[in-house]
Amino acid sequence: MRQATVYIDHQALQYNLNRVKQLAPQAKIVSMVKANAYGHGVADCLGGLSATDAFGVACLEEALEIRELGYHQPITLIEGVFSEDEMQVAVDQNIEVVVHHQQQVDWLRTHKNAYVGKNLKVWVKLNSGMNRLGFKVPEIIEVINSLKAEGFTCVLAMHFANADAEQHPLNEQQKQQFLQVKEACAPVLASCCNSAALFKWPELNFDFVRPGIMLYGASPFADKSVKELDLKPVMTFEAEIIALNTIQAGESVGYGSHFVADQAMQLAIVSIGYGDGYPRAFPKQNYVAMDGQLTRVIGRVAMDMIAIDVSGLNASLGTKVELWGNTRLVDDVAEANGTIGYELLCRLSNRPQRKQI
Ligand SMILES: Cc1ncc(COP(=O)(O)O)c(C=O)c1O
Repeated sequence: MRQATVYIDHQALQYNLNRVKQLAPQAKIVSMVKANAYGHGVADCLGGLSATDAFGVACLEEALEIRELGYHQPITLIEGVFSEDEMQVAVDQNIEVVVHHQQQVDWLRTHKNAYVGKNLKVWVKLNSGMNRLGFKVPEIIEVINSLKAEGFTCVLAMHFANADAEQHPLNEQQKQQFLQVKEACAPVLASCCNSAALFKWPELNFDFVRPGIMLYGASPFADKSVKELDLKPVMTFEAEIIALNTIQAGESVGYGSHFVADQAMQLAIVSIGYGDGYPRAFPKQNYVAMDGQLTRVIGRVAMDMIAIDVSGLNASLGTKVELWGNTRLVDDVAEANGTIGYELLCRLSNRPQRKQI
C-alpha cells in the first residue's frame, strides 16, 4: 500500500490550545475549524480541541458536520447563513450566526423567538476597513442597539486585515473604530482577535478570541517561526522512498529535465506529488527531512512522485521522508513555494491516508 500519510497529533493540538489560554486567559476560545480544520480533517481534530469553548466555521454544512460528530459546543457561522431556510436549521441545531448585511438581520428577526429563547448570541460584523463583510460606522451602532432592544445578545465582531504586519496604518484605524462602536453599544460582547492579533494585542482579547492557524502549529507571521511562538506543528505529512538511483554528472532528472547533475549523486524517489496536494512550483530550493536532516528536492514535482538528493545519507526502500512536520516546517515549504502555510494545509488532497496520533 502506498504510504503517503497525514498524521494529526492531538497532544500538539491541546498544547496549542493551551497557548491560546495563556495568551488570553479571560476570553472564551472560538477555535476556527473551517475548511475541514484548515485541511487537517475536522473529524481527526475535534478530539484534540475538546477543551475549547466554541467552534468557528464558514458555512452551515461545516457546522452540521461538527454536530453529527457529537460535539455540542456553540458554533459560529462566520459568514452567517446564505438563505432564510438555513436560519431555521441553524436555530434548530443551536448554531450562532454572524450578520453582515441587512437581509441577514431580517432573516434573524423572523426567527427571533426561537433564537432569543435558546440564548443564542448574534455576531454583528463591523467593516472597519477590510471591506469584505460588515456594516460600517455608524450603521452598525444602529443595528446592534436595535437588536439589543429586541432582546438579542450581540457580539460586536471584527477581523483585522493586517494583524500579521509589523506596522500598518489600517491596524490603528480598525482598532479605533472597534473601540468606538464598542463604547457606543455598551454593554456589548466583543471579539476581534485571530492568531496574529492574539499574540500582538493582549488588550484586545475581550470576550471571545478566534484562533485558527496557531492551533494547528503554523505561524501567522512571515517573520516568526512556530518555535519562536512556542507552538507545535499538529500535522506531519510523510511518504516513503520507493526507488533509489545513482546518476552521473550531466544526467537529468524528471519532467522537463530541468535539473542536471554536476557530479555523480544518489537519488531517492518518494511516492508523493501534486496529486496529494504537495505543491508543484518552487521558485526557491525546496527541502524535505529524512532522519531529522534536511535534504534537497531535485527536479520537478510530478503528480505522484518527487526525487530527493540522498547522497551521503542512509536511505533505503521504505525509508520515511517528512514533507512537512516538526523538522521541515510547513511555513518553510510555503515560503519556498511562494505562498503561506494556511494554503498548503488547506490544499491537501484526500489521497494521503490520515491517522491520529
Ligand atoms: C473571521 C475570522 N476570524 C478568525 C480567523 C482565524 O484566523 P487565523 O487563522 O489567522 O488565526 C479567520 C480566518 O480566516 C476569520 O476569517
